[in-house]
Amino acid sequence: MDKFSIHGGVPLQGEITIGGAKNSALPALAACLLTAEAVTLERIPPVRDIATMERLLEHTGARVTVEGERVTVQAETIERPEAPYDLVKTMRASSLVLGPLAARCGRARVSVPGGCAIGARPINLHIAALEHLGATIHQEHGYIEAQAPGGLKGGEVHFDRITVTGTEDVLMAAVLARGETTIHNAAREPEVVDLAELLIKMGARIEGAGTSVIRVTGVDRLHGAEHRIIGDRIETGTFLAAGAITRGDLTVKGCEPEHLRAFLAKLREAGVEVTEPAPGVLRARVPGKLRSCDVTTEEHPGFATDLQAQFMALMTQAEGISIFTETIFENRFMHALELARMGANIRLEGRRALVAGATMLSGAEVIASDLRASASLVIAGLAAQGETIIDRVYHIDRGYEKIEAKLAGVGARIRRIS
Ligand code: EPZ
Repeated sequence: MDKFSIHGGVPLQGEITIGGAKNSALPALAACLLTAEAVTLERIPPVRDIATMERLLEHTGARVTVEGERVTVQAETIERPEAPYDLVKTMRASSLVLGPLAARCGRARVSVPGGCAIGARPINLHIAALEHLGATIHQEHGYIEAQAPGGLKGGEVHFDRITVTGTEDVLMAAVLARGETTIHNAAREPEVVDLAELLIKMGARIEGAGTSVIRVTGVDRLHGAEHRIIGDRIETGTFLAAGAITRGDLTVKGCEPEHLRAFLAKLREAGVEVTEPAPGVLRARVPGKLRSCDVTTEEHPGFATDLQAQFMALMTQAEGISIFTETIFENRFMHALELARMGANIRLEGRRALVAGATMLSGAEVIASDLRASASLVIAGLAAQGETIIDRVYHIDRGYEKIEAKLAGVGARIRRIS
C-alpha cells in the first residue's frame, strides 16, 4: 500500500492547474447509459473512482474509449443492467446507474451500498424517488431490483432531505420517463447543473437545475453529445488551503470561483488574501496572522462538507477557537484524531469539533481514513515540523489526480513511497 512522505515548512509558490470535477464526471459517465449513441466527455479526471465507473459501464455492455482526459462511451446495447457488489463496495457512487438503467431498460439491479467511513449513507431517498416515477422496487440478496416493464412515467418527487446523487439519479430517470416530472427540494450543487447541461445537449428537456425545483419533460430518446466537465471545486479549495497553511503564494488555474464562494469567504475571514486575477484563476496569500473562524457545513451554496477537513487543518494554525459543525454526515471528523496526533488541539463534541490554535504541528505517522480526511492530513503535513508519513493513500487516489506531483510542482517536499 502506497504512503506519502512529507517534510513540512516550505511555502508553496507557483501555479497549479485544476482538473475536471470527479463528482461531476461520475454522473456524466452514468448518463451515457441513456443513449445508444456515442457520448464524448472532455476533462474527465484520471482518478480511481472514475476508473471504477468506467469498469461498471463496461460491465453493462457499453464500450468505453479513454484517450487521456477525453472519454467516449457508447452504450449501443445494454447486456447487463446491473451494478455488481464488487464494484459498488469500492465506490458508493455506483448507485448513480440505477436511474439511467431503469429508464433505458425498464429494469436495473444494483448492489446495496454498505456503510461508509463518514456515515451510514443509505440510498432510501433514491429508491423512493424512483418509485414515484412508477418503478417497482424490492431488495433481495443484497441487491436492489427496480422494475418498470412499461417504462417509467413522470411524477412528483419531494426529497425529505437534500441529496446530491439522489437528485442526479432521479433526474437521469426522469428524462426518459413519459410525461412531466417535478423534483422538489433538489440539490443545487454545480455538479447537478453540469449533469443537466449534458442531458440537455443529449436532447433532454430540463428547467430549473441549480434551483431547488427541477422540472423535466420526458422525451422518447436521447442522442449522442460532447461535453466538457466543470473544474473540481473541492480540488481547488484543497490547494488553496494547502497554499495558505504554508504561508505561500499560490495560484490555481482552471477553476470556477463561483462554485466555492462560501469557502472563499471563510478563507478571507481567516485572514487569507484571495484574489481573482483573471477568469478561472484564484490566488491566495497570507499577509498576516491567521484568525480562527467558525464553519457549519451545508448543502450548496453553503460551505461544502467536502472541504471541512481541509479547512480544519488550516484552522489549527489560526489564533483562537474555531467551531466546526458538520451537518451533512454523522461521522466526518476522523481526521481530527489524526490531526491531534500531529499536535493539534481539537475537542470533539458530537457533531461539533472545537479547534484551539495556533498549535505547532509536528510530523507523525498518520492514517488516511477517507478521501477528504486524507487531503487534510497532507495539508497538515505541509505545515508540520519534520516528516509526516501518511498511510493508505489509496483513499486520496480515489479523487485527486497525482496530488503529490501537483504539490511538488509548487515546491512541496512530498513523495510517494510504493
Ligand atoms: C455526494 O454524495 C458526493 N459524492 C459527496 O462527495 C459529498 O460529500 C456529498 O454529496 C455531500 O455534498 C458524489 O457526488 C459522488 P448526499 P451523496 O446524498 O450524494 C443522507 C467526496 O468526498 N441520505 O447528498 O452520496 C446521507 O446519508 C464525497 O467526494 C439519506 O439519508 O451525498 C447524508 O447524510 C464523499 N438517504 C445526506 O443525506 C439517501 O437516500 C446527504 O448525502 C441519500 C442521502
